[in-house]
Amino acid sequence: MEYLLAVRHFIFIDKELFKEGNMVYSKIISTGSYVPQRIVKNGEISEMVETNDEWITSRTGIKQRRISSGEKTYQIAAKAAIEAIKNAGIGKEEIDMIILATITPDFFMPSTANLVQAELGLDDIPSFDITAGCTGFVYGLQVADQFIKSKQSKTIMVIGVEVLSKVIDWSDRNTCVLFGDGAGAVILKSSNQEGIICTYTGSQGDLRKSLTLPAVPLKNPFLQLQNNNGKPSTISMNGKEVFQFAIRIMIKSINQVLNKSNLFLDDIDYIIPHQANIRIIDHVARELKIEREKFIINLDRFGNTSSASIPLALDEAHKKKIFCIGNRVIMVAFGGGLTWGAALSNWTV
Ligand code: ACO
Repeated sequence: MEYLLAVRHFIFIDKELFKEGNMVYSKIISTGSYVPQRIVKNGEISEMVETNDEWITSRTGIKQRRISSGEKTYQIAAKAAIEAIKNAGIGKEEIDMIILATITPDFFMPSTANLVQAELGLDDIPSFDITAGCTGFVYGLQVADQFIKSKQSKTIMVIGVEVLSKVIDWSDRNTCVLFGDGAGAVILKSSNQEGIICTYTGSQGDLRKSLTLPAVPLKNPFLQLQNNNGKPSTISMNGKEVFQFAIRIMIKSINQVLNKSNLFLDDIDYIIPHQANIRIIDHVARELKIEREKFIINLDRFGNTSSASIPLALDEAHKKKIFCIGNRVIMVAFGGGLTWGAALSNWTV
């Protein structure tokens, strides 16, 4: 009897949820961003390691990056969040969840999202961090989209933020020329108008060694062998491996969201790729035969800001009024983990 009641109850809820006209979507209602004031040009890095502007520009497309000279990850994130709230024209108390993507938190605990929540003066709402390398923001969008579609939340702030300058080995020319600091934020709101059309993410932990940023080494009195060599945690990367992987997986991710949504490349107006290297973007554009003009690019001025790169580029393009309402936009990323993903959205702001 109890079983039958439970089945009836489930069928009822199921019917309610999928009743015609009752579909809920998530849509981006605003964007915001913040970068530290300090600009570090390639020439300045060439005074620190054996490199030069010509090498960095021709191999990566990067000309300069913003570097924090004291601002913490949560402070940079909060500034982007405040701008997104202002641009949304909503009261901050409408936000009922904060999802923040970063690989450079200020603390393991509390999360950076918790610190932003306090900074914004928002009480009693869930807030948490996501770590998925440079794909973190796309993962964040996917999670937020699901919370809204399942009617658990109505208005979610998704932030991508990094202060990579604190985890860079500034004597390693293989990595120190690539990265920068900054934050981007979007606000997603529930709507009966379709915003986010679909998302796709993936990971392959067995490829983890290509791109790593170690955390705290195990250190306790029970260790047989002390393994803390006292070296600070810095990013290390096999650039060639990541390069090859990035091209393959960005193409796959773009195709996945197109297949999932029954759309074709011609239906897409803009692509916002993770801003790692202009040559990766060029390869993807060539292999998919997409006009380069469809790619939003700002890595020349900000470098690779990992989780912040897509929302930063998104905000900049929106401020420049590049997108029109109804445009279809794909955000696509890859990152340490290795991870990857894409989100396809109607532009609704
Ligand atoms: N300046 C001058 N020379 C350099 C520099 C530099 N900054 N860095 C490396 N070199 C040298 C190398 O030592 C090498 O010299 P050698 O031939 O004498 O050994 C030569 O330049 C070529 O090095 P490669 O590594 O083969 O250069 P490549 O063309 O592969 O470019 C790069 C390197 C830019 C790192 C490229 O591989 C790349 O962009 N990879 C992807 C990186 C990426 O996207 N990372 C994403 C991180 S995402 C995240 O989650 C944080």
